Amino acid sequence: MAAGPDMTEGGEVVMRQMTVGDIDGVLEIEKVSFAAPWTRGMFEETLSSPVGISFVAEENGRIIGYLIFYRAAREIHVMNIAVDKNRRGLGLASWMMSRVMDLGRRNSMETCFLEVRESNMPARSLYEKLGFRQIGRRKGYYRETGEDAIVMELTLTDQT
Ligand SMILES: CC(C)(COP(=O)(O)OP(=O)(O)OC[C@H]1O[C@@H](n2cnc3c(N)ncnc32)[C@H](O)[C@@H]1OP(=O)(O)O)[C@@H](O)C(=O)NCCC(=O)NCCS
Repeated sequence: MAAGPDMTEGGEVVMRQMTVGDIDGVLEIEKVSFAAPWTRGMFEETLSSPVGISFVAEENGRIIGYLIFYRAAREIHVMNIAVDKNRRGLGLASWMMSRVMDLGRRNSMETCFLEVRESNMPARSLYEKLGFRQIGRRKGYYRETGEDAIVMELTLTDQT
């Protein structure tokens, strides 16, 4: 996929499909990014799913971010996105999400959905900036904390 902006290390950032060989690098970011991180098996399952699509952002051979979504009919469901702690706030997640939205539009996808923890203000702010709007709330969705999930939607056909 496309190369992105310089993310301060002086290397070109490339977005490409995730492979099993990337999982170690992905897990390093996953474990420090989430209260209930995905396991290796969950990443492997997604990579072997016919509806799972997974990308990594790579700089100088190092994974610095990833984004996983599922497609169902004309819908995209964002399942996981994270950026290396040392690369946050530089536009990487926005860039990855925008690429996926463009890919969806080119493949006639109509809507993108995601769930986000109510307290995750960086992520909510990212999604709002990309045009997502809140369409619902799942009470106590996150079992470890009992926190609500905010359900957000972006209509891809509005953005052409
Ligand atoms: C959420 C996350 C993916 C954002 O990645 P990022 O590359 O830092 O995001 P970007 O640099 O593209 O930021 C885009 C916008 O997101 C919002 N944002 C990002 N970090 C933020 C922060 N710490 N506080 C508030 N808003 C923030 C801002 O609106 C920002 O736009 P701005 O730079 O014009 O202010 C990253 O913080 C992360 O990996 N968090 C842990 C994993 C996670 O929570 N994933 C989301 C699960 S739903």
